[in-house]
Amino acid sequence: MLLEHDLSVSPAARAAQIWRHREQIEREAAAQFHQLARELASAGNSELAKRATRAALDEQRHARRCRALVESLVGPDVAPADAPRRLTLGPATLSSRDRMLYAAVALGCVTESLSCALLLELKEAAVHPLVQATVAEIVTDEIEHARIGWAVLAAEAALRDVAWLTQYLPVIAAAAIADDVQPMAGEVELAGLGVLPRERVQALVAETWATVISPGLARVGIRSGGG
Ligand SMILES: [Fe+2]
Ligand SMILES: [Fe+2]
Repeated sequence: MLLEHDLSVSPAARAAQIWRHREQIEREAAAQFHQLARELASAGNSELAKRATRAALDEQRHARRCRALVESLVGPDVAPADAPRRLTLGPATLSSRDRMLYAAVALGCVTESLSCALLLELKEAAVHPLVQATVAEIVTDEIEHARIGWAVLAAEAALRDVAWLTQYLPVIAAAAIADDVQPMAGEVELAGLGVLPRERVQALVAETWATVISPGLARVGIRSGGG
């Protein structure tokens, strides 16, 4: 389906396909952080709302960096990025406050924490100078974005029971892996171009789940299994 799987295509073109997809992921993250900022503002948490707005702007910048990288790999790219797929996180049956918490956990605590782990590894492997610069810039911001999720969770957990999120963790984890992790994985030969070797993905996800995400969630009574 993806060009990335077609080995007759050059490594640069295959890597470009993955960075195009990343551009789309960044645009989705921008929309989701804007939404989270609005929800935080309505919940009266203006400090975290400001941080979420800054994160949304970071994500828009990341999308532009991804586009620049695609063009440096394959030349002028006229294909527009796909439209964002998921803008609202969480089941519609939840109250708006619960959806805010769901989104903060899904986006910040899970997706951004996994993204940080993958990007730190990619940063080490990158050899293409613009890939190095792009990954380094993105990972610095993603660390703050993960912290926003953990800060929202801590603030909510100080006010109320948040253990109900346990039931949603399998869905949140599966979505993060399918939508944000797997699309950044590819053949080993693409590692220097910012594509994570598939064999490393599973190990990194399991490690990050066990050492960062699961313990962080357990501190506020959310059980998330072994990952
Ligand atoms: Fe990003
Ligand atoms: Fe981010």
